[in-house]
Amino acid sequence: MTGLNTYANLVNARMEDLLPPANDAPSILHEAMRYSALAPGKRLRPALCLESCRVAGGNPSLALDAACAIEFVHVFSLIHDDLPALDNDALRRGQPTCHAKFGENIAIMAGDALFALAFSISPECEVMHELAHASMALVQGETMDILSEGTEPNPQTLTFIHQRKTVALIAASCAIGVRLGGGSDQLVAALRTYGNHVGLAFQIADDVLNETATAEQLGKSAGSDRERNKMTYPAYFGVDESRRLAAEEVNQAVAALDGLNETHQLVEWAHFAISRER
Ligand code: FPP
Ligand code: MG
Repeated sequence: MTGLNTYANLVNARMEDLLPPANDAPSILHEAMRYSALAPGKRLRPALCLESCRVAGGNPSLALDAACAIEFVHVFSLIHDDLPALDNDALRRGQPTCHAKFGENIAIMAGDALFALAFSISPECEVMHELAHASMALVQGETMDILSEGTEPNPQTLTFIHQRKTVALIAASCAIGVRLGGGSDQLVAALRTYGNHVGLAFQIADDVLNETATAEQLGKSAGSDRERNKMTYPAYFGVDESRRLAAEEVNQAVAALDGLNETHQLVEWAHFAISRER
């Protein structure tokens, strides 16, 4: 995907520097942090942050540490999401999950440490505030996701879960990028709206892929939402209608960019959120 790989390389190199060296004590903690953070993710959230900074007129390097902080929060949330007490998954980003490789106790610690690292490298109070606010939403969404397992799906709860567990951090990534690029409040609002729609499209596509793709293709478990009776878009709307709703979100994301300059990359990624195969 154009642009995504360029930004991913930048972010990977910076994360490598920001993470504690593997042989610093306690080395198993740092190995586990590096193992999960440096695994081959798409880096969509950091890319959105860097590109939003560029669209605001700033050099993307201004937002690089914030982009890494966002990815560290995301990786932390995935490590905990995969734990036996939560989704109990064995595969993530094409490799054994953190707890499968290092044990549950170290995986919990590695997650906690990545969360702390994220805040310790956040460049400004405002970035920390955005990140903390989105993190709270993640916890609320994940809690509702757990509580809803096995219950009758309904659109209100579904929206509550998706808005918080996924959309909040994606929208915050865009808002943080604009802020660090020196953009106006108006541009923050426009790209936050874009992020809200891309984020929802992304999570609906994730739900659909869990239902339709293979674990080999995804690099993480497939069919697990149905097995665990998760409250997902396909569970309530079916696969076809979920795809249509995701496409509608993409259209709204693109509409939020109306009248702005230099947004071709953001438009492309909005489409990528639902056309991706993993
Ligand atoms: C993956 O969803 C999980 C999330 C997007 C969020 C998980 C959030 C937490 C564990 C709370 C984190 C705590 C703080 C303080 C930020 P999924 O299970 O639908 O996707 P998957 O198939 O990739 O696992
Ligand atoms: Mg999960």
